[in-house]
Amino acid sequence: MSRTIVLTGDRPTGRMHLGHYVGSLKNRFEMQDEFQCFFMIADYQALTTHRDRTEDLERHVREMVLDYLAAGFDPKKSVCFLQSQVPQLAELTMIFSNLVTLPRLLRNPTVKEEMGKMGLGNRVPYGFVGYPVSQAADILLFRPRYVPVGPDQRPHIELAQEVAARFNRIYGEVFPLPDGVYGTRLKGTDGQSKMGKSYDNAIDLSDKKASVRAKVMNMVTDPGRVRATDPGNPDVCSAFHYREVFDEENAEQVARACRSGSVGCTTCKGALADVLNDFMMPFRVRRKGFEEQPDLVRDILNLGGSRARIEGQRTLEHVKEVMGMGYKALMG
Ligand code: TRP
Repeated sequence: MSRTIVLTGDRPTGRMHLGHYVGSLKNRFEMQDEFQCFFMIADYQALTTHRDRTEDLERHVREMVLDYLAAGFDPKKSVCFLQSQVPQLAELTMIFSNLVTLPRLLRNPTVKEEMGKMGLGNRVPYGFVGYPVSQAADILLFRPRYVPVGPDQRPHIELAQEVAARFNRIYGEVFPLPDGVYGTRLKGTDGQSKMGKSYDNAIDLSDKKASVRAKVMNMVTDPGRVRATDPGNPDVCSAFHYREVFDEENAEQVARACRSGSVGCTTCKGALADVLNDFMMPFRVRRKGFEEQPDLVRDILNLGGSRARIEGQRTLEHVKEVMGMGYKALMG
């Protein structure tokens, strides 16, 4: 029996936040019953932006596994592994690097945005410009049908589709074309278009209740609303966006109360903090249960690594064979 595969991953550069949850974690963990899921912690990809902070990696990897568990990863159903534990990924990256042109890589809008943020001008590492090629290998080595990711990953999924199609055309059908499954983009607590750890505008999945409350109370509401009884405009309110995502059934009523001036911003944000804390309560309960199992993270990653290497080796042998690099007659 061969089950439909799902693969996705994250760079271990810090705690995961609500943006990760609505962008990708929610979708992926809902797929665990139906599909065989692989969740990769992309530590080599983390090097492309954090090459001089490797002393933090081990801690971030551990925290990431705990964030996954808190958000719904079921280690009995799904596989979680470290990218650097699967050498077949590096081999496939080497093969794929000949199937992508430099201008194609430099056109990638997500890479361009990240390059701008790094402020390196054109002194950008080769590994950074090339990380989408490595990500295509991350994906295709497992021959998944679905890749649940945040909307910013779309260009990378499209590249993986192109690489798969090109490989299949040149050498023979090996790779099914994967589809991205895109979640919601969540704005930052500061109203910026994206929640991100580097923007200091995130609500982490591991935040304590009081910290969630403090972050919500700091959100900027309609700046034109001076007194609590003034009519407000929810469309320009950073807090209202979270109502739309996390409190959909009440969002319309909240908007009406805001527009009529019947509920003030402080009261409204207090209620939003309760909504988010209720939403996060199951995460806290699960995290606590998992944190009490001392060997759990180690076992997950060791077992996951061997499962991923087996899958990877199977694909890689098939790849080399269709490329004429199995060398059966010469060496077998
Ligand atoms: N680029 C993803 C991120 O920034 C991480 C990632 C690495 C990934 N390899 C992947 C996502 C494969 C999906 C599939 O978080």
